[in-house]
Amino acid sequence: MARITASVYTSHVPAIGAAIDLKKTGEAYWQPLFKGYEYSKQWMKENTPDVIFLVYNDHATAFSLDMIPTFAIGTAAEFAPADEGWGPRPVPKVIGHPELASHIAQSVIQDDFDLTIVNKMDVDHGLTVPLSLMCGEPQAWPCAVIPFAVNVVQYPVPSGRRCFQLGQAIRRAVASYDDDLKVQIWGTGGMSHQLQGARAGLINAEWDNRFLDRLIDDPAGLSEVPHIEYVREAGSEGIELVMWLIARGAMADIDGGPRPTVKHRFFHVPASNTAVGHLILENN
Ligand code: DHB
Ligand code: FE
Repeated sequence: MARITASVYTSHVPAIGAAIDLKKTGEAYWQPLFKGYEYSKQWMKENTPDVIFLVYNDHATAFSLDMIPTFAIGTAAEFAPADEGWGPRPVPKVIGHPELASHIAQSVIQDDFDLTIVNKMDVDHGLTVPLSLMCGEPQAWPCAVIPFAVNVVQYPVPSGRRCFQLGQAIRRAVASYDDDLKVQIWGTGGMSHQLQGARAGLINAEWDNRFLDRLIDDPAGLSEVPHIEYVREAGSEGIELVMWLIARGAMADIDGGPRPTVKHRFFHVPASNTAVGHLILENN
């Protein structure tokens, strides 16, 4: 039986990828940020799963206004890093897990969540930056990755409640897979940021830290926060945070199991225009 061993939460700022790729991680601006992920890289080495189910958002890279899936699961054998305007990041291609991804699609769709099945897709900074932060700069990523793209770019976006319930369905799907696989689920994007309009540059560290507290201790209550509060308090791009509720919904305690252990918590401003938040929760 496959099982979810841990969940990881992290922001995905593209400038973080550029800092890594251009060897700027030691610069004064970036050093405190990367210091916050040193523990995480070591933890990842000691707790390498077989598969990462990586919840992220595409930024009009693989999708566009032509086609806007709310929830899209990557069932391909591999996914190439996307060209986002400066050429593809020089990172390894992402190796998928078509069997587990197809099983999750079958289970979750029969469990009443409508997923778009994607057999061909490039993956942008939303997916590659979290991998770089957690795994460093390996020749190949240490395990298979199932990309799971959520529309948080073009309205209407899914509610936190829907995302939290979807996480619970993903948990049931993983638990009903026959092979004995260790699976991590990652929720990425956020925290507070706004890239456009009169409030561009908005950061709300107090609200972000309250979000982290509640994600740990009161995820069901947090899932009831309406989308307008994300936008008002965390900026127009702060809505990316609903993706963290998918990962949290897949943890054992939501299904009557023991509470997870907080292995790591980190928060840092500034990183480009975004408040960076990061958590590692282990199932017990
Ligand atoms: C930034 C953050 C994002 O989430 C994104 O997708 C693009 C840019 C930023 O902080 O610059
Ligand atoms: Fe983003």
